[in-house]
Amino acid sequence: MDLEVGSVQEEALEQVARAQSLPELEQVRVAYLGRKGKLTQLLRQMGELPPEERPRRGAQVNEAKRRVEEALEARRRELAQAEEERRLAAERLDVTLPGWRPALGHRHPVSLAMDEILRFFTGLGYEAVEGPEVETDYYNFEALNIPPDHPARDMQDTFYLQGELLLRTHTSPGQIHTMEACRPPVRVVVPGRVYRRDADATHSPMFHQVEGLLVDRRVTLGDLKGTLIAFVRAIFGQDRKVRFRPSYFPFTEPSAEMDVACWVCDGAGCRLCGGEGWIEILGCGMVHPRVLEMVGYDPQEVSGFAFGMGVERVAMLKYAVSDIRLFFENDQRFLASFPAYLVEPPQPGSPTLQEEVGA
Ligand code: DAH
Repeated sequence: MDLEVGSVQEEALEQVARAQSLPELEQVRVAYLGRKGKLTQLLRQMGELPPEERPRRGAQVNEAKRRVEEALEARRRELAQAEEERRLAAERLDVTLPGWRPALGHRHPVSLAMDEILRFFTGLGYEAVEGPEVETDYYNFEALNIPPDHPARDMQDTFYLQGELLLRTHTSPGQIHTMEACRPPVRVVVPGRVYRRDADATHSPMFHQVEGLLVDRRVTLGDLKGTLIAFVRAIFGQDRKVRFRPSYFPFTEPSAEMDVACWVCDGAGCRLCGGEGWIEILGCGMVHPRVLEMVGYDPQEVSGFAFGMGVERVAMLKYAVSDIRLFFENDQRFLASFPAYLVEPPQPGSPTLQEEVGA
């Protein structure tokens, strides 16, 4: 073999062996076999040789090209395999590692209290219905027998929108919507958001109420008392003492407020009850005959009772929360102190629901 061809071949094989990556190897291929590569050049230069030397030279260069190509292919396979091994090592998965435990959400305490209130009344056969948060003056005030000069209509208390529209200040308009839509007997609870221009540790500009309304023939104050006593005991404990205090609401006559004996001091007076021994829990009364008339009911034929309560207030008392703003700051540490949102999955061997209810 010509010295020249031999040394180019040696040089090429050496560089192939030294290439450490596929791109490097490609550079070597171009340097020897590319259009301007050294071996390609040798073939081109053959034209300058005497004709009788050309076949021998041609065969030598072709042989050199074949060897370099072979070496390139072998090295390419080596490098590709090494690369694959590196990749597999880098992507190695330890399937025995414990998985991520997703953080469980929590029911919001206001939802917990709301659900508990609604569950009691729907259990008695009340239907839960909702009403609009944007109301007219008529539904929020007038139809509830609240006169135009009533302090509740003051700009200081109510968020007024355009014209006759306002943000409802209570869920009581739900009574009117229900009675306009249905003939007696009616039995509804109306949960929802209400709005007032008020903000401190016990007042929030947005809070939740549940309204209750029952209208039928011969409904008495006794029915009201029996229902609400059962309710308060279901929420705050079976042997809680309760009392009704005479009060005033324009849409009920007579009106009352219901108090529960303080469960911290049991009536002796403490910080929770402000020394009173009693904690006010809701407003109630017998639906005012004028309210019945305005929706086209005959007060001679039917009578009813109504009640309304603040859900945050129930939650604050039940869960001993002293500042209403905590409910709306959504601090995870506060929210996580209430029962977890998801119930534990059933354990192996635990009874099925059917077995539990004896079906
Ligand atoms: N709407 C009253 C309020 O927001 C609560 C209320 C009191 C509702 C007496 C009633 C009721 O239905 O009979 O303060």
